[in-house]
Amino acid sequence: MSVDSVISATAALAGPLTLIHDADKAPGWWRSAVIYQVYPRSFRDLNGDGIGDIAGITEGLPHLADLDVDAVWLSPFYRSPQRDAGYDVSDYCDVDPIFGTLGDFDIMMAEANRLGLRVIVDLVPNHCSDQHAAFQAALAAPAGSPERDMFIFRDGSGPEGHEPPNNWQSHFGGPAWTRVIGPDGQPDQWYLHLFDSSQPDFNWDNPAVHAEFERVLRFWLDRGVSGFRVDVAHALVKAPGLPAWGGRADGGSSDGFPGHEAPMFGQPAIHDIYRAWRLILDEYGPDRILCAEASVDLPRLAHWVRPDEMHQAFNFPYLHAGLDVYRLRSVITDSLTVLDAVGAPSTWVLSNHDVVRHASRFGYNGSGPRDGDGIGPADQQPDTELGRRRAAAASLFMLGLPGAAYLYQGEELGLPDGIDIPEGMRQDPTFARTGGERLGRDGCRVPLPWSAAEPHLGFGSGQQPWLPLPASFKELARDVQAATPSSHLNLYRRTLAARRELGLGRGSLAWAEEWCTGSSLGFVNGTTLVLMNLNHEPLEMPAGDVLLRSADPESGHFLASGETVWLQLVRGDTE
Ligand code: BGC
Repeated sequence: MSVDSVISATAALAGPLTLIHDADKAPGWWRSAVIYQVYPRSFRDLNGDGIGDIAGITEGLPHLADLDVDAVWLSPFYRSPQRDAGYDVSDYCDVDPIFGTLGDFDIMMAEANRLGLRVIVDLVPNHCSDQHAAFQAALAAPAGSPERDMFIFRDGSGPEGHEPPNNWQSHFGGPAWTRVIGPDGQPDQWYLHLFDSSQPDFNWDNPAVHAEFERVLRFWLDRGVSGFRVDVAHALVKAPGLPAWGGRADGGSSDGFPGHEAPMFGQPAIHDIYRAWRLILDEYGPDRILCAEASVDLPRLAHWVRPDEMHQAFNFPYLHAGLDVYRLRSVITDSLTVLDAVGAPSTWVLSNHDVVRHASRFGYNGSGPRDGDGIGPADQQPDTELGRRRAAAASLFMLGLPGAAYLYQGEELGLPDGIDIPEGMRQDPTFARTGGERLGRDGCRVPLPWSAAEPHLGFGSGQQPWLPLPASFKELARDVQAATPSSHLNLYRRTLAARRELGLGRGSLAWAEEWCTGSSLGFVNGTTLVLMNLNHEPLEMPAGDVLLRSADPESGHFLASGETVWLQLVRGDTE
């Protein structure tokens, strides 16, 4: 069958189509990759101290290869006092002893290579730990010294400098400035920290900071990593003069304060940094990548992935679109359109270590918890069954989209957030900095259940895990799901295998207008129709062979409420 006749046969079955994105023929493994985020402290604990480790990651890699992902992204495992779960780095070129050693890292890399998995590591360039040697040197040095110039130190305002230099607020609550005691024992300057006070921001106006991070990039590239996920990649450069900002601390828009005007995010000079990094990565060949964690709106996100900058950027507008069919359609259309214009692939993501897991978010009708706020026992509880059903539908929908997809560990098991976490065990700095008003992100960071019959559900056989695994995780354990054909895990396996076989990551996208209603959304990728029903009523499916569906096939030719289907519209190979 010719390509043209496939297209017309597809349209005949799917109805009118609006083409948004053509198949992607550009080289680059990352353009269609499925990348699995490993959160090391919660993945698997092999040494029995209650915290996951690198040896545990090595042990778990065959399961990820079996899931058929292309790469893993490891959240930070560097030396760190762990005030922000490793996003407070005290040595960028060493492994924290709680996770193991550089030798363990090399063994893990060798196992990943053997299994054909690429490894991406996290780079945290906006800030370090207050225990980093450079910050300790800055504290010991006087105002105006080169040591202080590695960070953003300023004199305070008001009488005797008692007030912070400006009104910026920390993401985790409270002011973004902390005053230090000078080498002479007297109250001294203030330093900027957009996150916790233990995370001083680097001064990216200083060439010495650039040189240090170029060294860090080369260190890990030499060890064989395939690239970096760049933490808060929109924050490194601050507007000259650090002007006041009354808007949101996370750079989102609020009344009278559009996010694009925030003086600590998205400053033009930031792009020079990434151009310089791109040149370094290119020295190592075409397969090393940079992925921006940049919380900026869609038209601007394209600036991070221009041809001489990063390869990918996280698509948080997609994550935030939830299950609103209008928002989803517009975010998908806008993403593909603006990213196509700069030749970059889109990425898609539903969960990560900073947001309530999508199996819990989707268990609410109406608005659920705010990002980063978590769910506690006193909050309105999600409907677990509804959440898991919709999570399966949302994942099947996302994995049918062309581009790359990021998965967060445990979403393949349909895990919900941990809710019953004793206050004394909560570790996210958000909890302490807001006096417990915001619970923070611990709920999505609960360790993984591997095996229903083992102590701590197989996460580790030693001490209590650093956060408790809910009793409900037992029936969700990986071994239970592996043995259950209709499980969430097996749906992910079948989905990833079919996505690869059909080449959907490299595919095209056309909206199937007849199926884009106020409560359903359908698109055609190649010859596959992906259709999600969010109506309360079942939806009669169009003709075509059912390849996959996210719920049990009992509803026959009807798509249940909260269900997604992949239908093959046309059989036969194209010439
Ligand atoms: C990371 C968070 C971290 C923050 C500060 C974020 O974007 O994903 O987990 O707390 O950066 O490093």
